[in-house]
Amino acid sequence: MDEIKVLISEEELDKRIRELGAQISKDFSGKKLHLISVLKGGVFFTCELAKRITVPVTIDFMSVSSYGNAKDSSGIVKIVKDLDESIMGKNVMVIEDIIDSGRTLSYLMDLLKTREPYSLTLCTLLDKPSRRTHNVHVDYTGFEVPDEFIVGYGLDYAQKYRNLPYIGVIES
Ligand code: IMP
Ligand code: MG
Repeated sequence: MDEIKVLISEEELDKRIRELGAQISKDFSGKKLHLISVLKGGVFFTCELAKRITVPVTIDFMSVSSYGNAKDSSGIVKIVKDLDESIMGKNVMVIEDIIDSGRTLSYLMDLLKTREPYSLTLCTLLDKPSRRTHNVHVDYTGFEVPDEFIVGYGLDYAQKYRNLPYIGVIES
């Protein structure tokens, strides 16, 4: 078993997600929102956030892979599962767990733009800005995190630890 140190507690996550939900509800007041949850890591955050958004919400899922079963990026972005529904003319918000190099999201946002949504925004639970190599415009961020390998709340290490209710760092 790996030693895991708590970086962001369940209470802190809950408080910040409520704030984000309130902000998004205000910004999209009178409109509808179509959330695109990025599998698998973004799912935990998507559910918690969606419950705190008060405007009408629909949800779709997409799976994009750029990491293998390692702590390092393979450098390849691949669509593993595409959306079920068209996003044309919708207020689309992509929900992601973490933005690291930015490679995955810069690719995904460019791709979604070509499908002509009415608006396209990005909400990430975590941002590791020190690691950015690809430019991505982030509209809503939960927390900035240091350059450490993060697990929990959807984030995995070799598919483990997604179910931790807090954000942690593996102590090596
Ligand atoms: P990017 O393309 O480098 O921005 O990486 C994005 C994806 O890599 C995220 O959606 C995560 O799935 C994964 N990732 C990046 N950093 C971490 C981390 O610290 N822990 C777990 N997964 C990570
Ligand atoms: Mg991810």
